[in-house]
Amino acid sequence: MEDVKVALLGCGTVGTQVARLLDEQAADLTARAGAWLHLTGIAVRDIDAPRDPAIDRTLLTTDVSELIAGANIVVELIGGIEPARSYILEAFEHGASVVTGNKALLAAHGPELYEAAARADVDLYYEAAVAGAVPVVYGLRESLAGDRITAVLGIVNGTTNYILDEMTTKGLDFDGVLAEAQRLGFAEADPTADVDGFDAAAKCAILASLAFHSRVAMDQVHVEGIRSVTAEDISAATRAGYVIKLIASAKRRETGIEATVAPMLIPNSHPLASVHGPFNAVVIEAEAADRLMFYGRGAGGAPTASAVLSDAVAAASHIVEGGHAPRELIYADLPVLPIEESVSRYQVELAVDDTVGVLTEVSGIFARNGVSISAVGQEHERVLQGEDGLPGRAVCHLTVTTHAAPYAALQQTTAQLEESRYVAGIRRVMRVEEA
Ligand code: HSE
Repeated sequence: MEDVKVALLGCGTVGTQVARLLDEQAADLTARAGAWLHLTGIAVRDIDAPRDPAIDRTLLTTDVSELIAGANIVVELIGGIEPARSYILEAFEHGASVVTGNKALLAAHGPELYEAAARADVDLYYEAAVAGAVPVVYGLRESLAGDRITAVLGIVNGTTNYILDEMTTKGLDFDGVLAEAQRLGFAEADPTADVDGFDAAAKCAILASLAFHSRVAMDQVHVEGIRSVTAEDISAATRAGYVIKLIASAKRRETGIEATVAPMLIPNSHPLASVHGPFNAVVIEAEAADRLMFYGRGAGGAPTASAVLSDAVAAASHIVEGGHAPRELIYADLPVLPIEESVSRYQVELAVDDTVGVLTEVSGIFARNGVSISAVGQEHERVLQGEDGLPGRAVCHLTVTTHAAPYAALQQTTAQLEESRYVAGIRRVMRVEEA
């Protein structure tokens, strides 16, 4: 039996589980790959740092270049742009295939990496980069290669789904849940990449590129995070039959691709509404297959290692039997649309004067901007006290749900609503997904 030499770069939570499973599952992995996946070394920054007992310390090295030079497959689990990018390019130059979980690197430098892999006639695999154990990259690249995808909608960040779910089920506010999540180790000490939507945006760019055979870079994805979602937003959504989820959305429109990450109102009847805690799920809509959902653990050592190992088995079998991983397919070359042209349904909640003509005024502003209203709800609320203690305005809470409208038209609508003398304030504006 041949042996395929595997170099592991990084020995964190995922790397540790990859090393453990390569050892524990060696017989099965060998049978599936047609070769022994022989772990020849683990590159780390500090050889003496404490490690899980599963790690064979004799494999640890700080000489990354020497390790790469002797490898057939390099598993990059360092994360970040550099030095990960240079190590991957070095691996390709030595004729090694690469398995990575590095979403930020792929979203920023995917084309360069794909080209280098194709030039070297080796594989680039990255199942672990999007939604951990959930085989959505394989699903898009291979299972759905016979279909025409129209939309990919995903909960691809477990930290934010955990936070929003805790807010929903316990009625807590964002800061309280974030602090608790950090205490329990569910959220990073610096939560920016997760809560501000950047981690999801990198994954959105990767999914959109695969789904629509076009290059979508991370900085072309419109990003809104969840910091501004309040406990009141959540309870209003619950009352109206929705849950708020951070959704990475990539849709094919007539003129190009729409790619956004934003908190959205998801109807309770939508399959993504039932994704709780830190779980991930990706819904793919395709013309022939119709709707599919991929669900599972998007983070964590063993689940992410599962995706890494399946890539390693595929890469090893190509080394033994020939063939290669799918190359970058960008033949459609669709443009990414500016956010102004993106289209969504919206829910706009307003405090308005409880007076004659207010509905005519409000609906008139929507109409003048070409935004069609699908439903209006009105609740009498209270008398706002004037700042000087004098009796203020009698207001009611108005909820306007629209049909699909361009972002630019919605922005103009809300700007004009702000200026209307009937409007005491705009309370929230949120995208709404179709059921
Ligand atoms: N931080 C990510 C999450 C996992 O919370 O889902 C790695 O991308």
